[in-house]
Amino acid sequence: MAALCLGLRASLRRGLLEPARATWPAGPRASMSFSSLSRGRKMALSTLGVLVAGGAGLAFALQRSVEASELELHPPNYPWSHGGLLSSLDHSSVRRGYQVYKQVCAACHTMEYLAFRHLVGVSHTEAEAKAIAEEYDVLDGPNEEGEMFTRPGKLSDYFPKPYANTEAARAANNGALPPDLSYIVNARHGGEDYVFSLLTGYCDPPVGVSIREGLYFNPYFPGQAVAMAPPIYDEILEYDDGTPATMSQVAKDVCTFLRWAAEPEHDTRKRMGLKVIMISSIIIPLVYYMKRHRWSVLKSRKIAFRPPK
Ligand code: HEC
Repeated sequence: MAALCLGLRASLRRGLLEPARATWPAGPRASMSFSSLSRGRKMALSTLGVLVAGGAGLAFALQRSVEASELELHPPNYPWSHGGLLSSLDHSSVRRGYQVYKQVCAACHTMEYLAFRHLVGVSHTEAEAKAIAEEYDVLDGPNEEGEMFTRPGKLSDYFPKPYANTEAARAANNGALPPDLSYIVNARHGGEDYVFSLLTGYCDPPVGVSIREGLYFNPYFPGQAVAMAPPIYDEILEYDDGTPATMSQVAKDVCTFLRWAAEPEHDTRKRMGLKVIMISSIIIPLVYYMKRHRWSVLKSRKIAFRPPK
């Protein structure tokens, strides 16, 4: 190493970085092959090459090791019925999805940004939403004696939380916090495709991969070891509307519900988009025509200079 450094310094002194200052004005040198260089320069160039190649190799290896392991699967693109440019959400699917959330996911996951009133006109009628809200006891108060009391839920109440606080949630789930599901499809890469794949993708770990006690193998989850036990299976619940509750049907419905929760303006947005396109397809040609009309005099005039005689 010391020899290399010496060689590098010597060649720098000899002007490696400004090689042709003397000869340049007289024209470029004819032969610039590696073998014609002096020994010091050869050593310096080789050192540089080795350093650059080594650095690039190291960077590549680091990048590979930081990247997700090769067991990770990317979710495919599923043909969601609301995937099209102008297609709305399937609202009976949203309704079934709420039933799945309420009967399955709500045992562990909060949805703290959703209130019962949000369901009105989307998946339930006002009377139905009221009846659902009244099934829950909500802590309210203080009353005139300064005490807290519980009362049946109202439309304006937010979805109840399964645990009193995040510490209790962690304690009940092996230390893992079940994330809030209100915006989960926007919060995860792949959106509902990812959530669908996660829910239906549990399988046995491949030979040679061992999973810690309390974790489950899922190829779609980053790191492949997820703390959520497989939450759904065939016939996990009975749908009110009689739809057969297969595993993929349940996953699809809850994903549609979660898409609505994360993007309640979904249908309005697409309807507005359609209106904007229709109106602007009339207005834009009209405005363009008027602009050409107004400017036609100025744009087609000719200015001539007639010198005085
Ligand atoms: C038994 C409790 C439990 C139930 C029931 C449950 N989950 Fe989970 N879920 C968890 C826990 C714990 C985590 C955190 C996992 C982790 O970080 O390893 C989690 C994580 C998730 C995640 C986030 C994964 C990620 O990429 O970070 C999603 C999405 C999810 N659950 C959806 C659902 C849905 C939808 C249902 C209902 C069908 C459901 N869960 C039911 C406990 C549960």
